[in-house]
Amino acid sequence: MLLVGPSGAGKSTFAARHFSVTEVVSSDAARAMLTDDAGDQDASAEAFQVVALIVNGRLKRRLTTVVDATNLHAASRRQYTRLAARYGVPAVVIAFDLPLSAYHERNARREGRKVDEIVVEDHAARMPQALAELEGEGYVAVHIVGEDAADEAIVERR
Ligand code: CTP
Ligand code: MG
Repeated sequence: MLLVGPSGAGKSTFAARHFSVTEVVSSDAARAMLTDDAGDQDASAEAFQVVALIVNGRLKRRLTTVVDATNLHAASRRQYTRLAARYGVPAVVIAFDLPLSAYHERNARREGRKVDEIVVEDHAARMPQALAELEGEGYVAVHIVGEDAADEAIVERR
């Protein structure tokens, strides 16, 4: 499962609510493991290598795997869909499509790591293109959730 959405969209909150700790593979957690700072962008390349390694290992074992990263670029999503295809496991997207103000409000409200407003705006500006691209990327389902839908979502495992 790929979570797609800007910083502040509620991806990690959603993942924590619906999935176990080990099912969620997070680029922030990987950065934190590498540097003690989940926001250290200098470690991003290494963090995404760690994420890819874990995703590969889990999909090989056919384990439910949630990629908790913004996943706003087609190239990064492709890396995971390729792994899913390699092991014959279905890929699903949950995209968090909220008003810009909601990303800002949630970011401002959060404790600990806060993301610069300009970064959030850059992420939000990528969303329309990301949403348009998702349809052609071969997922078994693309769920687009708004401000409340993510809280109300029921995740069923088949
Ligand atoms: N939040 C909220 N209501 C929700 C979901 C999230 O108020 N339905 C709050 C969280 O408590 C948190 C902030 O919004 O303080 C950001 O949520 P988070 O899940 O951390 O967002 P992410 O999308 O994971 O952001 P990032 O990409 O920066 O990790
Ligand atoms: Mg997060």
